[in-house]
Amino acid sequence: MSIHTPKIEKKVTLTSIAKMKGKEPITMVTAYDALFAQLFDGEVEMILVGDSLNMSFLGKEDTLSATMDQMIYHTQAVCNGAKLPLIVLDMPFGSYTSEEVAIRNANRAYQETAAQAVKVEGGKERAHIVKALTQNSIAVLGHIGLMPQFLRSDGGYKIRGKDAEDIASLIEDAKALEAAGAFALVVEGVKSEAAQAITKAVSIPTIGIGAGNSTDGQVLVWSDMFGFFETFKPKFVKQYGEGAQMIRKGLENYRNEVKDRSFPNEDYTY
Ligand code: KIV
Repeated sequence: MSIHTPKIEKKVTLTSIAKMKGKEPITMVTAYDALFAQLFDGEVEMILVGDSLNMSFLGKEDTLSATMDQMIYHTQAVCNGAKLPLIVLDMPFGSYTSEEVAIRNANRAYQETAAQAVKVEGGKERAHIVKALTQNSIAVLGHIGLMPQFLRSDGGYKIRGKDAEDIASLIEDAKALEAAGAFALVVEGVKSEAAQAITKAVSIPTIGIGAGNSTDGQVLVWSDMFGFFETFKPKFVKQYGEGAQMIRKGLENYRNEVKDRSFPNEDYTY
């Protein structure tokens, strides 16, 4: 029996997230399966089933080839594991190229999973998509700043908000998404001063990743934060565990014990 007491005891809703702005920082992590979602249940306010799963779960080089079917499959698993956090399905590249396509795919997200919201990447140029979704009763988490789905068209991952002009443009993005009905915004890969200015400019919560500590919350990719993803480690990732090392050590012990026949001993034998 687990002696662990969850920090959060009630189901997190869009209303409770909205109320946290300016009061208490929001915690969010990614999850891709029921096993880990269950571990995160009651520990964070929000879970993102991110298209980052294409890299950390499927071993692809970027997020671009993730599909709606994949996102639905993993979101179903996460919803089976976690009952308390607000769960967001990340709309993959190509799944919101027009209002009609976005509504069709987001309807699938709502009908085939228990996710409470979807996330879309894009600023003012995508505000009409966000508006179409929110007007059709789909809750949307916006995503501005460095947007991994723009990797090829932007010519790489680029930190944003380095000058006054770009900060002004990011603020316009944030305001356009707020006006379109987004309930919160992920702000990724921007200078801390820019994230602070964006956070001040809107009344919806901002959730930062690589955006300093002035946003209304933080999100990290679980496999990065627990040291399982070793391909590369961006500057903003703090490791809260040494997952890969733990597994290697455990496997070494297992291998040695099987080889010398000390496992299974009587304790593990019928
Ligand atoms: O896909 C993802 O995990 C994300 C986070 C990095 C915000 O979009």
